[in-house]
Formats: sequence, C-alpha cells, structure tokens
Amino acid sequence: MELRLKERLGRKFDEEIRFFKGWIDGPKSVGAILPTSAVTARRMASVINPASGLPVLELGPGTGIITKAIIDRGVATENIVSIEYSTDFYQHLKRTIPGVNFINGDAFDLDTTLGDWKDRKFDAVISAIPMLSFPMEKRIALLEDLLDRMPPGRPVVQITYSPVSPIDARPDRFHIRHLDFVVRNIPPAQLWVYSRG
Ligand SMILES: C[S@@+](CC[C@H](N)C(=O)[O-])C[C@H]1O[C@@H](n2cnc3c(N)ncnc32)[C@H](O)[C@@H]1O
Repeated sequence: MELRLKERLGRKFDEEIRFFKGWIDGPKSVGAILPTSAVTARRMASVINPASGLPVLELGPGTGIITKAIIDRGVATENIVSIEYSTDFYQHLKRTIPGVNFINGDAFDLDTTLGDWKDRKFDAVISAIPMLSFPMEKRIALLEDLLDRMPPGRPVVQITYSPVSPIDARPDRFHIRHLDFVVRNIPPAQLWVYSRG
C-alpha cells in the first residue's frame, strides 16, 4: 500500500479509537458512534460567512473533523472558538489542530466557559453536542443564549440523528430550517439551522 495512504488510514483509525474511548467512558456525553463524516462537516461549515471577520463558535468538536472543515471554509484558526467537555478530546485537539481557541468546558454554561470571548458576537455556531441527551428546557435555553451572541439572521447549525428538530419550534422566538439529510454519515445525519430576524 502506498505510504501516504497508509499514514492517512492510520490517522483515521487513531481518531476512531479515540472516539470509541470517549464513547465507552460516557456514551451519553459523546452521543454518536463514529466521528462525523467529512461530507457532513463540510456541509455544516458551508453556512459560515468567512468574509464577516467575526469569530465562529463550535460546540462539541470531538475528534476535530468539523473544526478542520471550518478552517477549510476560510476561517483563520485564531478566529475559531471551540468548546469541548471531554478533557481527553480537548488535549488531543490542542495537540493536533494548533492555533484554534479550544476551551475545555460546558457549552451549556457559556458565560463561564467563554471567558474572554463572552462579550463577542459570532458569525455562526456549528454544534455537534448531543442535544437529545439533554432536557428540552436546557436545549431551548442554550439556543436562545447562542442567538443572543450573533447578529440577526446568522445561523446556529446542529447535527442530529433524529428526523425531527431536536429543539421544539418557538415561531415567536426563532426560525427553524432543515438544512440537509446527509446519507454519507454513519448513522445518516440530519442538519438543522436556527436563526432570528
Ligand atoms: C457526537 S460527538 C461530536 C463528534 C465530532 N463531530 C467528531 O466527528 O469527532 C459530541 C461531542 O460533544 C461533546 N460534548 C458533550 N456534551 C458537551 C457539553 N455540554 N459541552 C461541550 N461539549 C460537549 C462530547 O464530548 C463529544 O466530543
């Protein structure tokens, strides 16, 4: 086998082992069995407007596949803030994707977790946190908090495996749009976009 292909497969395998370890340690907190596919990651990052100059907020980067898609979308690493709850994943991310502002903390407690970034506006939020593992009130409160930190109209993208939006509709508070159903993901992924204004 060609050496570069071998190296690539080796890296991919390493990411999956790391993912399984996180999953075994706390399946509820990881919320998926395999890392997000590159196709899904690209689709999620496609909503970002890199020309806005605003930072992008990522929630639940895991192995970093979506983080890499955000960088490939044209966002400078220093303009990415990415919150990961698992210390194992966080340490791996810091080592493998230098320059990104990774924060080891809880996405549901943004005022504390964001630290120096807490008063900033974000162009977009890209979220892979396992929403369905949390009660509906917490999901709605998180979404409202995220939308308060963005200019009107800008998107929060959420990946889920359920065919319905993981956040209940509140037409007076925010809009919900189905972005995509990505079959090239294990399991196939649903992408939802939330925005205001
Ligand atoms: C489905 S995995 C993300 C997978 C990632 N897209 C990948 O392909 O590697 C969900 C991630 O959200 C993280 N997570 C769960 N609860 C969180 C929370 N409250 N705050 C931040 N991250 C959280 C988990 O540790 C896990 O890394």
